[in-house]
Amino acid sequence: MINFEEFSKLVRARRTNLVVDKDRPLDPGVVEQLCELAMWAPNHKLTFPWVFTAVTGEARARLSNLAADAMAREGDSPAKVDRARTKYQRAPVVLVVGTEVGETQLRTEENRDAVAAGIQNILLGATTLGLASYWSSCPRGANDDVANFCEFRSGTHITAMIYLGWPQRQAPGTMRPPVKVRTITS
Ligand SMILES: Cc1cc2nc3c(=O)[nH]c(=O)nc-3n(C[C@H](O)[C@H](O)[C@H](O)COP(=O)(O)O)c2cc1C
Repeated sequence: MINFEEFSKLVRARRTNLVVDKDRPLDPGVVEQLCELAMWAPNHKLTFPWVFTAVTGEARARLSNLAADAMAREGDSPAKVDRARTKYQRAPVVLVVGTEVGETQLRTEENRDAVAAGIQNILLGATTLGLASYWSSCPRGANDDVANFCEFRSGTHITAMIYLGWPQRQAPGTMRPPVKVRTITS
């Protein structure tokens, strides 16, 4: 078991970083290993609500175009839409993580919370392997098209589109505000 200090270092070492070698593939099996870590996140009622699709190779261009088309529909500027047409080619793998709908609204919300916890497992796992990672949201208006592209069930929420790759430089240092914890005892 790693100790608190080591864990604390790992948590701080994980940083959003998209300065990666887009042409250097990940080792075989790495994406599966990382997704398996997500399975161990806390998950109320053990609904296992996460679904994963790794987008690589030529498929990244198809995904980019689909996102760009959605952005155009949403009224984004032509320049922004144009840039988006190569958006997902910036890393060798874009791991799309979806959350399945629950039986009730509460369960759907809990599912999304569980998936977010699972994603942090993925990001920390990637950090231990020396990989850069970058959690990005699904572009506005593109959720259903991305879900369909990923062969997820209808209604699946795209919780993250994670860029993964070998870093070309480390993310610059960052700060966090000091933590405040209120304690109520009576
Ligand atoms: C739910 C969620 C969605 C995010 N979406 C984006 C995004 O679309 N674009 C982006 O640049 N960063 C996105 N991020 C990453 C945050 O911007 C990043 O975590 C934050 O700037 C802190 O930097 P750090 O991760 O290096 O600590 C997202 C993070 C979360 C948790």
